[in-house]
Amino acid sequence: MEKILNLISQRVSAAFERAGYDAAYGRVTVSNRPDLCEYQCNGAMPAAKAYHKAPIQIAEDVAAALQDEAAFSQAEAVKPGFLNLRLNPDWLAGYLEQMRTAPRFGVEPDPKAGTVVIDYGGPNVAKPLHIGHLRSAIIGESIKRIQRFFGNTAIGDIHLGDWGLQMGLIIAELRARKPDLPYFDESFKGDYPAEAPFTISDLEEIYPAASAKSKTDEAFAARAHDATYELQNGRRGYRALWEKIMEISTADLRKNYDRLGVSFESWLGESDAQPYIPPMLDRMREMGILVQSEGAKVIEVQEPTDTKEVPPCIIMKSDGATLYATTDLATIWQRAQDFRPAKILYVVDKRQSLHFEQVFRAARKAELVSPETVMRHIGFGTMNGKDGKPFKTRAGGVMRLETLIGEITDFVRAKVVENQLVAADEVEETTAKIAMAALKYGDLSNQPTKDYIFDLDRFAAFEGNTGPYILYTIVRIQSILSRFGAWEDLPIRTPLTAEAKDLMLALTRFAEVTELAYRDDAPNLICAYIYELAGCANKFYHETRILTEADPEKQKGYIALIALTKGVLDTCIDLLGFSAPEKM
Ligand code: ARG
Repeated sequence: MEKILNLISQRVSAAFERAGYDAAYGRVTVSNRPDLCEYQCNGAMPAAKAYHKAPIQIAEDVAAALQDEAAFSQAEAVKPGFLNLRLNPDWLAGYLEQMRTAPRFGVEPDPKAGTVVIDYGGPNVAKPLHIGHLRSAIIGESIKRIQRFFGNTAIGDIHLGDWGLQMGLIIAELRARKPDLPYFDESFKGDYPAEAPFTISDLEEIYPAASAKSKTDEAFAARAHDATYELQNGRRGYRALWEKIMEISTADLRKNYDRLGVSFESWLGESDAQPYIPPMLDRMREMGILVQSEGAKVIEVQEPTDTKEVPPCIIMKSDGATLYATTDLATIWQRAQDFRPAKILYVVDKRQSLHFEQVFRAARKAELVSPETVMRHIGFGTMNGKDGKPFKTRAGGVMRLETLIGEITDFVRAKVVENQLVAADEVEETTAKIAMAALKYGDLSNQPTKDYIFDLDRFAAFEGNTGPYILYTIVRIQSILSRFGAWEDLPIRTPLTAEAKDLMLALTRFAEVTELAYRDDAPNLICAYIYELAGCANKFYHETRILTEADPEKQKGYIALIALTKGVLDTCIDLLGFSAPEKM
């Protein structure tokens, strides 16, 4: 379906032409003076220069040519040369009726849609998820849903940090604690026990202990290095132990991501990219792009147009070890082979932006992806506490994601119970939905690159620019619809009040907003939009007697309008990654 701004721009362009001017001047925008008009066209100003006429003269000619145009109830020339426009309410209703009955409320899929891999997990195995992982998960999930909405096949890849020294540290520490486990006995040839020799809490205690020990105990650090090396070279017992660590850890990760309403289509990790490294290095060598630099092997990625220094991408250290960048490059190659993606998007802390710049450039030089494949790092800022510093626990430590979700849930539950929002057996489900809306909207309403302050009181408020306020609006509409009865097939009617028309105008912007959010990977635009839409809906509700309206035709028109509003709001919150409860 054509977006409304394009439709009315076409009408105004045609009027420019009828009046003897170039159609290109007919571009319409939403009015920045809603008190004066709904839309405006400023084309008479530049046209005045081209035609050596007063702008107001041109605006008046065009206004005259618009008098019989059905889309507008008002087309007025005002000094110095603006065209102020108001939509004809019947025409507006016709447009919205089309939107109501169209798939995805009239949003057209991207003609260039393809497969998109989105890398938005990056948790490290055997370490608890902490709030650093929260933004990646929340923003990534929303971007994935937006990509899908526009017709892409979106694959969320968790890209586990499951390789390297952290694994060696755990193995070395386990060996120190339980040397008798069969995993450490090189002569052991039987089957290893099905049961893991640790729980997730053990692992979460072992890793930091091992990491601290390696900083003071050199012999231990060396053993951890050796264990890493042996694991990577396939030592059977270590490999089996690693699999147990993966099993316990991923089960816990799944539970946490589930709770957040975040899911991944692909559970690959850094370890899965390792087999691609040797052939990738051969390829780089053959292409002659791998150069020696202080004993290391690097790819030069500086470009003549750079205004800043972009250091070379280090592929292999002098001791033969590969690095974070090497794994990311191999992963790109792997993804290119598995999916032939149109895009690979990385939702990762913005502090890694240089890393991705280097990796993308090196990937292009090594031709690991087709030249058309878009690779983009969507860097996000930090979630801060009220003191403006990175969010911490009260004791000053890094907060676990589980703890944070627990705190939000408790806070919201207290409100749900205190205000008796739902029956006792619905408290948990309703609480979980409101808590997710508070958390996710609180995050997503900020531009991803910006840091923001986590403020539970504000995020969980039922009023203001918050997730719960949006849910509240939806639930309220739902309750009217349920009391009314069969509303599904009622057509949109001509608006009878200013509030109804404002609400309808806000609804027409849905396609435009979602398209911008898609183009710029900016869920915050959807948040801003639904806040405005919910505001219009609540104003309409306040000023209109809906269920007590005596005229059944009028009433049906009101119901159709709020039903469409609810449909659009539901679609938007689904794109953001949360949903509304039945009641609240
Ligand atoms: N595991 C990494 C970390 O904790 C994040 C991974 C991000 N994704 C990527 N493809 N590099 O920093």
